[in-house]
Amino acid sequence: MSGQTTFPRWIPLLGGLLGSTTCGLLLYAFSVFIKPLQAQFGWSVPQVALAYAVICLIFGLMTFPAGRLSDRFGPGIVVFIGGIIMAFGFFMVSTIAPPDPAVLAAGGDAAKAAGKNQLYQLYLYYGVIAGFGGGCVYLPPIATAPKWWPDRRALATGFTVVGLGLGSFIMAPMATYMINSPAIGNGSALPVFKYVGIAMGIMVVLAALCLKVPPEGYKPAGYKPPETDLGGGGHKAYRDYTYNETRKTPQFWLLWVAYFCGSFAGLMVIGLIAAHGIDAMTLAYKAKNALDAAAQIPSAEAKKIAMAAAGAPSTLAVFNALVRVLIGPVADKTGTKKIFVILFVLQIGAMLLLFPAGASAVFLAAVAAVIGWNYGAMFTLFPATTLQYFGAIAQGSNYGLLFTSWGIAGFCGPYAGGQLRSLTGSFFVPFALAAVILVVAVIILVTLKPPQKKHV
Ligand code: 2OP
Repeated sequence: MSGQTTFPRWIPLLGGLLGSTTCGLLLYAFSVFIKPLQAQFGWSVPQVALAYAVICLIFGLMTFPAGRLSDRFGPGIVVFIGGIIMAFGFFMVSTIAPPDPAVLAAGGDAAKAAGKNQLYQLYLYYGVIAGFGGGCVYLPPIATAPKWWPDRRALATGFTVVGLGLGSFIMAPMATYMINSPAIGNGSALPVFKYVGIAMGIMVVLAALCLKVPPEGYKPAGYKPPETDLGGGGHKAYRDYTYNETRKTPQFWLLWVAYFCGSFAGLMVIGLIAAHGIDAMTLAYKAKNALDAAAQIPSAEAKKIAMAAAGAPSTLAVFNALVRVLIGPVADKTGTKKIFVILFVLQIGAMLLLFPAGASAVFLAAVAAVIGWNYGAMFTLFPATTLQYFGAIAQGSNYGLLFTSWGIAGFCGPYAGGQLRSLTGSFFVPFALAAVILVVAVIILVTLKPPQKKHV
């Protein structure tokens, strides 16, 4: 019978989980590499940070062609080729030859010039090549899972992005361990790129094998598409939007702007949160001990503060991962609009509380949890809304184009945050700006109405 298959529909979810975990390994633990790379190559923090901005941009922009190709040729082949390219780029970072330590130690212009070519290699291998492949791995499972799960679309989508959280959760401690282990990195980050690059290659091949689209007209046993279904589930009265129709709707571009605002604010703040904690807790310590603002604090105290501040990004990462699956069933029941508005309003509140929260480790971690929760929810809610509005047929192309907003936000958000912090000397301005930007998103999300359904 047409539309039937014995292929278990949890397998594409597993493929998505595996694929997105490799993207988490790729993206969200980069801060761990900054110090060791600096020490080994003599690069400055902004020089290394630019590699991260480049990967966000390329990764985000690549999701669009990846989605188009996935709609056309199927997800498996796109993830396979993209994944091999991603693993290759990541692995190739391990081959960058560090300059002579004696030249670096001598300082001056010679030290600055010593690692210059290598810096371009970092941009090429990590930023461009791995970013290119990463975008191809990220998008196709998001477009595929809801086709198998028309009854649990948001939940299925959540599964295909939860690995971003998991991957970063695994990678930060694992990479730190490998860098510091005398038998592996002995202070160098390069072996991490080698071993994790190989692991990524294996994982993406497995992910690609799990990913295929269901036969046309597929319906899971017992599933009856609701009257209002746009047709992705096989309903006759309405049909899905094509990609060309989707991109001509104002709703699509309003969603794009809202996604950009949410990502820009989130990424700007996530990059600053630990440094803000260290600053605010150090000031509080000095005030409590009647120390001058310029005075040094004891190094044991500084270590304690750094540890306490590090609790904030870790808590943020946990909530960023959890929400992606937990919000799915709720969105499947209620639709995304109400949840969107509630979470974005909450996010504005969290941004405003972030500045005063910095002086207390517990308060800071609590605010970070809320920020991680609201930020992570976007990666389930935006694809789910795209499905709700435009249907499943062209989801790869539609959501791929929508996700370019994240790439652009990832390129400029953290940079803007760092610049505003150094220009104003305070974290208050970037946090306040994040809140203002989120107000724009709330206005859009409150006023947004689904597009007219397309009749067959
Ligand atoms: C995500 O976390 C890549 O930022 C994107 O799903």
